[in-house]
Amino acid sequence: MRQVAVLGSTGSIGRNTLDVIAHHPDQLRIVALTAQRNWRLLAEQARRFRPHVVCIGDTALVDQLKSELPAGIDIVAGEQGLVTCAGLPQADTIVVAVVGAAGMKATHSAVCLGKRVCLANKESLVAGGNLIMQAAAQHGAELLPIDSEHSAIFQCRQTTDVVLHKIYLTASGGPFRTMPLADMANITPAAALKHPTWNMGGKITIDSATMMNKGLEVIEAHWLFNVPYDQIQVVVHPQSVIHSMIELADGSILAQLGAPDMRLPIQVALLHPQRLPSPATALNPVRMGTLTFEEPDVTRFPSLTLAYAAGQAGGSMPTVLNAANEVAVRLFLQERLRFTDIPRLVDACMQEHVPTEPESIEVVLTIDKDTRQLAEKLAGKMV
Ligand SMILES: NC(=O)c1ccc[n+]([C@@H]2O[C@H](COP(=O)([O-])OP(=O)(O)OC[C@H]3O[C@@H](n4cnc5c(N)ncnc54)[C@H](OP(=O)(O)O)[C@@H]3O)[C@@H](O)[C@H]2O)c1
Repeated sequence: MRQVAVLGSTGSIGRNTLDVIAHHPDQLRIVALTAQRNWRLLAEQARRFRPHVVCIGDTALVDQLKSELPAGIDIVAGEQGLVTCAGLPQADTIVVAVVGAAGMKATHSAVCLGKRVCLANKESLVAGGNLIMQAAAQHGAELLPIDSEHSAIFQCRQTTDVVLHKIYLTASGGPFRTMPLADMANITPAAALKHPTWNMGGKITIDSATMMNKGLEVIEAHWLFNVPYDQIQVVVHPQSVIHSMIELADGSILAQLGAPDMRLPIQVALLHPQRLPSPATALNPVRMGTLTFEEPDVTRFPSLTLAYAAGQAGGSMPTVLNAANEVAVRLFLQERLRFTDIPRLVDACMQEHVPTEPESIEVVLTIDKDTRQLAEKLAGKMV
């Protein structure tokens, strides 16, 4: 029986995780749940799954949460509360499904305690990949991907232990895959929040529309599979059936296929190495139609080039890329920045940064904070 803490249980990945866990009551038990503000749903989840502890990120909401919780469930709060849940002695498996670099400290803590970490929160690895991977190796933690592309690579990887020659990271291309560049400055948040194949939280949906999501995933793949950036190629595959591919030295390509349903990669990570029936929708090959592949257009989606540049620069540059992007996405959603200004702002922050090699997560967090301030300042000057 795995004892699972679900960080970010009220989000899209969090809710899908609870669905998987409810499907396997003999294998998986919830010991902690967390949310940032959605205390009503958190309380509802707690009444159903009876964890030992719940965490609410916004400390002002503790009393409301308390009023709706059954007796016997502890409450922790704030950033430190999240870290407490990640390190809970009763938990052997931590699902990190919070959004943004806010998940990094908890991820690092869980890894340092040698837990199994099922990671949806790619921003953790983008911002602090080197330190998190080092800590995982040092403390014998298992870091298993939930991102569907990385899960696909992980699943293909289970069939062979030879060195990877290349990774093909597939991308849907998002809602603006074919939109002319001249029209892109007028993209509204409402239009960008409509993803053609996946139903996800707001931030990742905007990242998919700019293709920064794929850029973050390139960096995530670099860390998870120890593959150099020039051996990771993004391929636009609008049908989202092949979730990614690996190429071996002999030219053979292995792929993982599935319906666009996150419950499958979540279950793969939670139950590894077991493969059991899952609540995810099954893919019918007869109905999947034509599969197409194309190169990404980096002129219209410059975020991809920025992510490769940040990854290749190394050190703290991906931290800056991620923090600037988080600010840019928020400002776009608040209609304070145009869609095409998102990569411009990220680029401007990267231009001002001289990368260093952070020696601790605290240093990474300081760079993250400084970049957010810089991004706010530079955004104010953008016309
Ligand atoms: N959605 C997908 O299909 C998908 C696929 C692959 C990877 N991912 C990755 O998974 C992560 C979560 O994505 P999502 O789509 O599930 O996001 P989401 O729906 O926005 O959910 C985010 C979760 O994190 C909590 N949260 C928000 N801000 C927080 C903070 N500052 N500190 C702690 N918790 C916070 C939210 O709580 P409240 O509900 O209270 O706000 C919610 O539980 C992201 O890193 C994303 O890139 C998502």
